[in-house]
Amino acid sequence: MNFTVKNLAASKHRSACAVVGVFDGHRLSPSAQDLDRLSHGHIVNILKRGDMKSTPGQTLCLYNVPQLNCDRVLLVRCGKEKELDAARYRKVLHGAAAALANLGVKEAVSFLPELDVKDRDLAWRLRKTAEVTREAHYRFDRLKSKQDGNGAPQLRRLTLNITDETELDIARKAVEQGQAIANGMALAKDLGNLPGNICTPSYLASEALRLARGNRRLQAKILTEKEMKTLKMGSLLSVSRGSRQPPRLITLSYHGAARTEAPYVLVGKGITFDSGGISIKPAATMDEMKFDMCGAASVLGTVAAVAEMGLPINVVAVVPSCENLPDGNATKPGDIVTSMSGQTIEILNTDAEGRLILCDALTYSARFKPRVVIDVATLTGACVVALGKEASGLFSNDDELAQELLKAGTVSGDRAWQMPLWEEYQDSLKSNFADMANVGNRDGGAITAACFLARFTKDYRWAHLDIAGVAWLSGGVKGATGRPIPLLTQYLIDQAQG
Ligand code: BES
Ligand code: MN
Ligand code: ZN
Repeated sequence: MNFTVKNLAASKHRSACAVVGVFDGHRLSPSAQDLDRLSHGHIVNILKRGDMKSTPGQTLCLYNVPQLNCDRVLLVRCGKEKELDAARYRKVLHGAAAALANLGVKEAVSFLPELDVKDRDLAWRLRKTAEVTREAHYRFDRLKSKQDGNGAPQLRRLTLNITDETELDIARKAVEQGQAIANGMALAKDLGNLPGNICTPSYLASEALRLARGNRRLQAKILTEKEMKTLKMGSLLSVSRGSRQPPRLITLSYHGAARTEAPYVLVGKGITFDSGGISIKPAATMDEMKFDMCGAASVLGTVAAVAEMGLPINVVAVVPSCENLPDGNATKPGDIVTSMSGQTIEILNTDAEGRLILCDALTYSARFKPRVVIDVATLTGACVVALGKEASGLFSNDDELAQELLKAGTVSGDRAWQMPLWEEYQDSLKSNFADMANVGNRDGGAITAACFLARFTKDYRWAHLDIAGVAWLSGGVKGATGRPIPLLTQYLIDQAQG
């Protein structure tokens, strides 16, 4: 999908569909007013008849509006004019994008960027328009023998109209950024939605290599089982023992600044299928454990987006990847392994495998002399119980970093909520036979998982995002969300601006 930015009066545009906002009380946005005037009050007349529900994001498509150069006018409800905030604006964008997808027009012009949104500037509005529009048109039908879409054409080009000519350059850059983020999210969703028999650790590695081939500032490096053995990654390797698929440790580095600049390191959990291992999970919804590599997908997607934006920073994605399966050779409850850090771990539950692969990847990450390390993982069901599907769980050993990430979440609308990492919680990881156990009791499961990771991240500023609740949706809308790429890219954009 292509986006172009223009600065033209609504009445001057020729298009298959003009998208304009309308507020409560028959109040029209400036462009809607323009079209209304041209059509001698046609739009207000229709609103007065009360044919349109007032819920924000609700749409009504008008055909044959008199005097207009556009074949259709798509009205989008925006609620009360004074109440238009970021969350509502996203609803408006989503409603408009979904309606456009349904109409099956190939091209349209949107006047929604002209709307004033509380505490958000034009660049943000345009970035979100690109992101949300792409999001609404995302399909994953490559594994169906016939592609969906019942023959209706897809939106190919959306023109975004702005009201101030002097802002054209800013606007174009913002749209490019939105596109880059949307591309990163589409990549992450594709990887998440692919089944475990296709998206294996080797498949993730080949995707990193493919990304690196497409951009000279990207570099991929893949470690095999043998190399991980040499590095003494005993914890990571204990998880992959039960699998026929070889494990991989993937790094994808982006160099947008001098080599001497410390990088942002993003570590993503890449369990391509989590059966629980010998501590096997119940059958119901076990298929959703193909999404257990969504952390990996999100850090690869973030690096891809940062590379496409060309941000002047260095970023490294580190992805430990393997399957967690039962087998005669699999790790058993009670087994004790030695992590790369030298600390020993008693594995009381083989289903708490995420932390076992992450701890070695976190130890490995120190070699990049990172500015910060952020790990992203579908780590605990307990986090879903605590925060539901709205927010990622955020843990950090550095309060400034935590605040920056929380802010990036608020600005992007991809929110996180901070949880405690207090020393007192560490007690539950006590083991009689090793330095620590890999699980505590049931209480505070998301916190004790983070406490486990904290034992491996003492040498640098670190944050952990538990995305178990936000990485995918279930039921009729089952599918990966691409979160937390909006949060991570917003954070890195902020950092790049200094
Ligand atoms: N990948 C799961 C976490 C998960 C479960 C995410 C359900 C989303 C939905 C993780 O590897 C896991 O199994 N965690 C266990 C930890 C427990 C054994 C301490 C869990 O949450 O039950
Ligand atoms: Mn598990
Ligand atoms: Zn898992």
